Amino acid sequence: MDDETLLTVDDLVVGFATSRGELTAVDGLSFRLARGANLGLVGESGCGKSVTALALMGLVPSPPGLVSAARLEFAGRDLNAVTAEEYRRLRGREMAMVFQEPMTALNPVFTVGSQIVETVRTHRRLSSRAARDLAAEMLDRVGISAPRRRLDDYPHQMSGGMRQRVMIAMALICRPKLLLADEPTTALDVTIQAQVLDLMRDLRGEFGMSMIMITHDLGVVAEVAERVLIMYGGTAAEVGTVVQLFDNPLHPYTRGLLHSIPRIDRPVRRLEAIPGTVPEFIGRPAGCRFANRCRQAMDVCRRQAPPRVEPEIGHTVACWLYDRAAASLPPRAVGER
Ligand SMILES: Nc1ncnc2c1ncn2[C@@H]1O[C@H](COP(=O)(O)OP(=O)(O)OP(=O)(O)O)[C@@H](O)[C@H]1O
Ligand SMILES: [Mg+2]
Repeated sequence: MDDETLLTVDDLVVGFATSRGELTAVDGLSFRLARGANLGLVGESGCGKSVTALALMGLVPSPPGLVSAARLEFAGRDLNAVTAEEYRRLRGREMAMVFQEPMTALNPVFTVGSQIVETVRTHRRLSSRAARDLAAEMLDRVGISAPRRRLDDYPHQMSGGMRQRVMIAMALICRPKLLLADEPTTALDVTIQAQVLDLMRDLRGEFGMSMIMITHDLGVVAEVAERVLIMYGGTAAEVGTVVQLFDNPLHPYTRGLLHSIPRIDRPVRRLEAIPGTVPEFIGRPAGCRFANRCRQAMDVCRRQAPPRVEPEIGHTVACWLYDRAAASLPPRAVGER
């Protein structure tokens, strides 16, 4: 791995054993994250965003889950080879996650302060007093007023926005190299949402960490991410910079998502443009996952997985439309709306 790369994910597959057979939640996902970069992971409900984050954190419950990857490397370490104990040490200290549901991630019977202190002391040799000082400082950093007093609050005594800030403080307190933020603002109202996003952007700059921001909200992506991975059916449909994706969407799915967005500064809030829903995939069916909802689907799309093509530098798409030999497609289809 070169010095620039923090995370390499190559052919990640996550399945869950169910009574109907093995449900494929992540199906051959590959991407690379540079140090200090901020990637938006976008897709409809059920496309495998949370499962991807859990797999990276080594937190997919097994059974019923089964994780495999051709390559999974983080900060020079082979995650396929680390022991459970090493993984535990990595989590929190080097990679941290803000979970989709703050109430399930915080323990209701302990004060917020004791939970943050415990997180700190798992990873750093600090007296409980020093850990508490650090916790208060971190709460202050995430914009919680009277932080020392707030340490003695139980989670239910805080508002949703405050709990989300506590989660962010807890994730950042050991200054991880990578933050996985799973829908960190979805449960919040719009004003608080903007505040939390601003905060995350500031802290990311200050702490120099990389971030994977998971969301189904394209507005959030346009605001915080530099690169975007559009996920469908557990795999990457399209990857590019925010500008590439918004200005020149290539995949029929991405185009559908952006359907009603004329300009980058006026994104829609929800992904509702495409009829139908993401089906669940049992096993690993042949062909493109999107074919049954795609208006441009061809025969080959149902038979064979699409090739990954890079029509412009740094902008890749998994779609037969861009394989000219297979689809005998005229070149102008690239970049056409
Ligand atoms: N523990 C589990 N057991 C069985 N199936 C699971 C489990 N966890 C997730 N799944 C399935 O994996 C698929 C992907 O789920 P995931 O939670 O990653 O979706 P998501 O993209 O995060 O959706 P959302 O936007 O609603 O959060 C879904 O079909 C889900 O039902
Ligand atoms: Mg999720």
